[in-house]
Amino acid sequence: MVIKIENVWLIRNGTWILKNIHWKVEKGEHWAIFGLNGAGKTALLNLINAYHFPTKGKATVLGKEFGKSPLGSELRSKIGLVSSSLQQKFYPSDNAFEIVLSGAYASIGLYQTPTDEIRQKAISLLTELGCLDYANRNYETLSQGERQRVLIARALMADPELLILDEPTNGLDFLAREQVLEAIDRIAAAQDGPTLLYVTHHVEEILPVFTKTLLLKKGEVFALGKTQDMLSEQVLSEFLELPVNVIWSNGRPLLSKCNRQREKGHTL
Ligand SMILES: Nc1ncnc2c1ncn2[C@@H]1O[C@H](COP(=O)(O)OP(=O)(O)OP(=O)(O)O)[C@@H](O)[C@H]1O
Ligand SMILES: [Mg+2]
Repeated sequence: MVIKIENVWLIRNGTWILKNIHWKVEKGEHWAIFGLNGAGKTALLNLINAYHFPTKGKATVLGKEFGKSPLGSELRSKIGLVSSSLQQKFYPSDNAFEIVLSGAYASIGLYQTPTDEIRQKAISLLTELGCLDYANRNYETLSQGERQRVLIARALMADPELLILDEPTNGLDFLAREQVLEAIDRIAAAQDGPTLLYVTHHVEEILPVFTKTLLLKKGEVFALGKTQDMLSEQVLSEFLELPVNVIWSNGRPLLSKCNRQREKGHTL
C-alpha cells in the first residue's frame, strides 16, 4: 500500500477543507485527481507530503503512519513533488543542470560537489525529458514549459517511490503540454518506476496510464474508482452540476458542455 487515508479531516483557520476522506493507493497504480478550483486537491497533496497533519483520522503514506514518529523530511525524501508553487523557490541564477542536481540532495541550491554518478544521472534525466539543449541556461531565462520539464527531472533524481504532479501543465501551450504528458507517460510505463498522482482541472490530460481517478468536490470524495467509470457523461454531469458530453479519442476523454435547446418563440 502506498497511501492509506481513513476518515481524514483537515481544518484550516476554522474551515474544514478536507472532510471524511477515505482513499487507498496501491503499488503499481497511477491516479488522476480531478476537481474544480478550491476542491481541496492541493490540501490533499500537502497532507500526503506531510506538510499538513490530519486534524482527525488516520493517514499512512509509504508505510509511515502520521503522528506515530517524526516523519517530515524522511518521508519527503521518498516523494517527488512537481508543482508551480515550487518554481518561485529556486535561485533564478542557477542553471537547469544545477537545479536537477540539487534534487539528489532535496535542497534548494547546490551545496555539495555532486559525484560523477549523480552528474551522469542528471544528464540522463535531462536527456529523457528533452532538456539537454538548455541545461546550461539560467532557470529565469527558461519558458514555463521548459521549467516544468526541468522540475520533473529534478523530482526524479532521488528515485522517489511516489511522484506527485500538481497541475504540471499549468500555463503551457498545446505542444509543450503534450511534451510534458509524453514524458509523464514514459515515467508511468517504466518498470519499477514511481507511483504517480496527477492533479488536474482538465480531463483531457488524464492519460490512459492513469487507470484510477478520484473526483474531489468541496473537500469531499465525490467518487473514486476506474477512470473510465469516473469520466462517464453521467458521473461528470453530476459532479460538475452541468450536463456534459464526453468523447474518447486516443484513449483520452474530451469534455464539452451540452448544448441546451434554444428556447423558441421569443421575439423582440
Ligand atoms: N490556510 C488556509 N486557510 C483557510 N482556507 C484555506 C487555507 N488553505 C486552503 N484553504 C481553502 O481550502 C480550499 C481548498 O484549497 P486547495 O488549495 O486545496 O484547492 P485546490 O483544489 O488545489 O484548488 P485549485 O484548483 O484552485 O488549485 C479552498 O477553498 C481554499 O481557499
Ligand atoms: Mg491546487
